[in-house]
Amino acid sequence: MKDTAISPQTNLSNAPADEEELSALHIWGGHPLSGEVTISGAKNSALALMAGAILCPQQCRLRNLPDLVDIQRMGDVLKALGVKLHCEAAALTLDASSLSTSKAPYDLVSQLRASFFVIGPLLARQGVARVPLPGGCAIGARPVDLHVRGLQALGAEVRIEHGIVHADVKGRDGRLRGAKIYLDYPSVGATETLMMAATLADGETIIENAAQEPEVADLANFCRAMGAKIRGAGTNTIVVVGVPSLHTADYSIIPDRIEAGTFLVASAIARSELVLSPVIPDHLTPTLAKLREMGIKIVAEGPQRLRAIPGELRATDIETLPYPGFPTDMQAQFMALMAISEGVGTITETVFENRLRHVAELTRMGADIRLKGQNAIVRGVPVLSGAPVLATDLRASAALVLAGLAAEGKTVVKGLHHLDRGYDKLDVKLRQLGAQLERVTPTAANPVTV
Ligand code: EPZ
Repeated sequence: MKDTAISPQTNLSNAPADEEELSALHIWGGHPLSGEVTISGAKNSALALMAGAILCPQQCRLRNLPDLVDIQRMGDVLKALGVKLHCEAAALTLDASSLSTSKAPYDLVSQLRASFFVIGPLLARQGVARVPLPGGCAIGARPVDLHVRGLQALGAEVRIEHGIVHADVKGRDGRLRGAKIYLDYPSVGATETLMMAATLADGETIIENAAQEPEVADLANFCRAMGAKIRGAGTNTIVVVGVPSLHTADYSIIPDRIEAGTFLVASAIARSELVLSPVIPDHLTPTLAKLREMGIKIVAEGPQRLRAIPGELRATDIETLPYPGFPTDMQAQFMALMAISEGVGTITETVFENRLRHVAELTRMGADIRLKGQNAIVRGVPVLSGAPVLATDLRASAALVLAGLAAEGKTVVKGLHHLDRGYDKLDVKLRQLGAQLERVTPTAANPVTV
């Protein structure tokens, strides 16, 4: 993790702004789950690939898109840029043949930091981009200095004025120039921004210390389907040879490894056997390794099908790291599981500076967790007790739902807008597996009391 203090504008309060944000999930714990769950397309792929469609002067199609709020928000940003979108079933057609502007609107970018990734494709396509700084969020300051420095290396003039990143390509032909870039930190977003920008640059670009997440490789495969020349994506060194233009592509997004990991933890915490598909086991290596260490049996039942068989839970130690290390996006969910595992385990969060806020809420449910800086020492307890809790960010909300499945009595999880941003109907899928839960949205006549 880069050493970034939490910026004052970071919205730590997460005060709900409207009724949707006051929705609550009422969960009655102790009920077993059973059956098979379908894993949706990967959120963090879909968001990057939607930005990548800006690179193409023709229509593209993305399939297996998850249905969640952040995807809708990215769609709004693209529409504001002049991209025409048409959605049918889980397929989205994107037509960026005639972009109307290079200015991404602040009110939309501020709601979805991933929309900052449009800066690379806009600059590559039009030679100019005006994108608001995304600002911080509950888990950290989320700076974009690595994106900016990389774009400057590719020949862009970048200045920040009044919270807006102004990027312009120097030079007469308005085209970025290939460069050798070393990332101080293997940032997923910076790797994706720079890889996309480099696809249309003049010459060769080498990105060293690149992020290796599967979503980076998925974006590279989509860009290659559009005619980009990229090799090494998924390793720490990516080489891009720029081409004058890209062409249409029809591409299916990989399954969501974090949703899959979340359901594997659901199986373990509810002590219930579950089958998940489609999954790509290679994308789940650290998650599967830690679950097996904790006593869970996981067997492959086909190329993209896994069966999880619960066992006596025992504690383990976890340190979040860039891929192929243990994913920070699975940290909160594992903390919920370790809260009821035999023994003492340590969880160290090294990627984001403020991603342990679910500790206080799990403690309200009877968990025995002590915080020391970025380390959480988790001593397993026999059972959690249901309680009203507040979700503080996307993965924390999932962790609290999982804890509610195992808790004695009723848990009420508020702050569902976090959950709906990142999961495709998680509550509906859990209910279909046998969980006893219901979503309660307040009305004037019937405010949600907790
Ligand atoms: C992506 O965020 C994911 N989001 C995150 O998923 C995920 O947690 C994260 O990668 C790490 O895997 C999307 O893909 C949309 P980073 P990103 O740049 O790209 C620092 C979820 O729950 N940094 O790899 O923003 C940064 O502050 C979300 O689905 C800089 O210092 O993550 C952080 O400490 C949450 N300067 C670290 O790098 C920069 O210019 C990792 O951030 C960029 C990042």
